[in-house]
Amino acid sequence: MPDFVPSIQTALSERFGERLEIDADLSGLDELARIAAHRVHRRYLAREVAPDLLRLLCACALSAPSKSDLQQADILIVRERSKIQAIAELLPEMPWVREAPAFLVFLANGRRLPQISGLRGKPFPNDHLDLFFNATVDAAIVMTTFLHAAEAVGLGCCPISVIRDHAATISKMIALPEKVIPIAGMCVGWPAEAGGITPRLSLSTTVHMERFTENDLASMVDAYDRRRAATRPYRSQRETKRFGHRDFYGWSEDKARQYSVPLRADFGAFVRAKDFHLD
Ligand SMILES: Cc1cc2nc3c(=O)[nH]c(=O)nc-3n(C[C@H](O)[C@H](O)[C@H](O)COP(=O)(O)O)c2cc1C
Repeated sequence: MPDFVPSIQTALSERFGERLEIDADLSGLDELARIAAHRVHRRYLAREVAPDLLRLLCACALSAPSKSDLQQADILIVRERSKIQAIAELLPEMPWVREAPAFLVFLANGRRLPQISGLRGKPFPNDHLDLFFNATVDAAIVMTTFLHAAEAVGLGCCPISVIRDHAATISKMIALPEKVIPIAGMCVGWPAEAGGITPRLSLSTTVHMERFTENDLASMVDAYDRRRAATRPYRSQRETKRFGHRDFYGWSEDKARQYSVPLRADFGAFVRAKDFHLD
C-alpha cells in the first residue's frame, strides 16, 4: 500500500500554505490524495473519451446526494464536433472548449418535479425561489462529483460557467425547455500536461470554528496574494486602461478588476424567461 500521507501533505501545503497532520492509518487516503491534488485541465490529447466511460462517469456523478431525493440535476452530453464547435465559437477567449473531446452541460431541472405533481394530480404550491435554488445546488453537486469521478480515472476537466454569458443562445442549441437551465458546461478529455495546484485562501480565512469570524481580512488577503504569486503569478493584467499596470498584481487585484465591470447582468432575466419564479 503506497504511503499517501506525504503526497496529501505536499498538495495541501501548496494549496493552503499549511502543514496538516494526517493519521497514516486512516482508510481512503488514496481518495484524499486525489481530491487534494485537484486541478482543472485546459489542454487535451487528441484522443476520444469512450461513450461507455462518459456514461459510467455520469452514473457515478448522479449517485451524489440529492436534496429531499428530488433528483433535480441532469447532464447533457455533447459529442458531435459541429455542436461543440458552435458552442466554442461563442467563447473564443476559451479555446480549450474547441479542443475538448467531449463537452457536458450540467442542468438544473426545476421542471420534472412540478410535472410529477401534475402526473399524480397534486397541487404544486412551491414554484418560488427554492425550486430554482434546490435544482441549482443539486446540479452543482453532480457537476463536482462528475469532476472527481473523471479525475479518478485520469481524465482532465474544466467547468465552463462562461456558457451562461450566452445562456439563451446555448439553451436554444441544446433545446432546453422552460424551467431547465445550464449551471455550467464542462470540457472533458485526457490531459495533455500535468497542470498544477492553484493555491487557495488560508484555512484561517475560510474555515470558521463555532462562529463566523472575519479577522483582519486585509492582511489575510495580502498574505494569500504573496503566497499565491510565488507559484502562480498572473501572466497578464486586466482593465489596465482603467486601473493602470501594477508591479505586484495579485489575486485580489485581479478579482477586484474582474468584478469592476457588470458581468452577466442579464442572467436573472434569462432565468425568469425560463419560467423560474425567484421570489
Ligand atoms: C462553477 C465553475 C465555473 C467555472 N468556469 C470556468 C470557465 O468558464 N472557464 C474556465 O476556463 N475555467 C472555469 N472554471 C475553472 C476555474 O477557473 C478553476 O477551478 C479555478 O481557477 C481554480 O483552479 P483549480 O480548479 O485548478 O484549483 C470554473 C470552475 C467552476 C467551479
